[in-house]
Amino acid sequence: MTLAQSANYQSPITDNASSFLRACHRQPTDTTPVWFMRQAGRYMPEYRVIREKYSLLEICYQPELAAEVTLQPVRALGVDAAILFADILLPAIPLGVGLEFAKGEGPVLHHPVHTMDDVKKLRPVNPETDLGYVLDAIRILRGELKDVPLIGFCGAPFTVASYIIEGGSSREFLKTKTMMYSDPQTWHALMEKLSVVLTDYLVAQIHAGAQTVQVFDSWVGALSPQDYETFVLPYSQKVLSAAKAEGVPVIHFGTNTTTLLHLMKRAGGDVIGLDWRVPLDDGWSLLGDDVAVQGNLDPAVLFAPLPEIKARVHDILRRANGKPGHIFNLGHGILQHTPVDNVKAVVDMVHEFSSVVG
Ligand code: CP3
Repeated sequence: MTLAQSANYQSPITDNASSFLRACHRQPTDTTPVWFMRQAGRYMPEYRVIREKYSLLEICYQPELAAEVTLQPVRALGVDAAILFADILLPAIPLGVGLEFAKGEGPVLHHPVHTMDDVKKLRPVNPETDLGYVLDAIRILRGELKDVPLIGFCGAPFTVASYIIEGGSSREFLKTKTMMYSDPQTWHALMEKLSVVLTDYLVAQIHAGAQTVQVFDSWVGALSPQDYETFVLPYSQKVLSAAKAEGVPVIHFGTNTTTLLHLMKRAGGDVIGLDWRVPLDDGWSLLGDDVAVQGNLDPAVLFAPLPEIKARVHDILRRANGKPGHIFNLGHGILQHTPVDNVKAVVDMVHEFSSVVG
């Protein structure tokens, strides 16, 4: 097989490459690209129809269904990138931690990890056999998406570790931090293990055809910069640099990260996600000009009247000031009851504003 025939072959970025891929490389675009974290999901009526028949995991396990759900927002909203429908917690299943999405409770991991013995019991993960359904969904999508780039993703080691230690979602991350501070050996052993599993999984997604990958460190803002540097940065760096070595752009995302941005940049990523707590221009200044940024509308703004939404979308675009390397997104995922029409309106506002001003 020649390089050009392999699924992960990336042609050099050309003048007619998608605006999303160009922005990842900080190249000028005619309009600012826009997509949304959690753009597929319960706020969409088409998604709810499928969820009436299938659980979240059943959708993930059936590549045709996962591909269909991935395509729903691409068709309905006209976004500039598709994000694979999956979940950051899927690798917990082959690790042997046990995953269930309980109604109204969010994720439940039945065998949380607390001791070195628990870490040792975690099973090795082969993405081709253990998470092959995700890779199959990517292969189907690359055939269907044509010019719209496909984003693959995984959780960052810290955020995945927090679920595996807490056994589910958490506010204080007390068990997680207790392991870090009281039993650092076990913490480092777990992070080492997770960084290998997540790297292999992300690289397999790139080989299957993902054209960009995003690493979600959604809850890392719970840490101080010192703790981030000691307990998290080396492991995120492993995952991010392995993905980068495959030649695709890498997006590094977290929330509540204003004091961590410089360290997240050091850990890696061509694009760094900004949440709404920092004005986009201030966040970009903290990071420096040699990196692209993604963000950063507050997801709650999508519940406001259209003129208010428009003012806030324009404010973000003015702060980006037409500088190459801005991908418009929310500061975090779309919320459950978000009006679809408002999401669609934001896509149009971004494209219209940037084609006039940019
Ligand atoms: O459209 C997309 O963004 C792709 C699909 C996607 C899902 N999860 C599907 C999903 C993505 C990118 C994720 C990532 C994910 N999963 C993250 C990181 C992003 C973030 O929001 O910070 C996290 C922390 C998870 C873990 C997770 N999955 C939680 C905490 C929950 C329950 C909370 C909730 O919203 O109910 C999930 C469930 C989940 N994953 C849903 C979806 C669409 C909920 C909808 C459903 O049950 O059908």
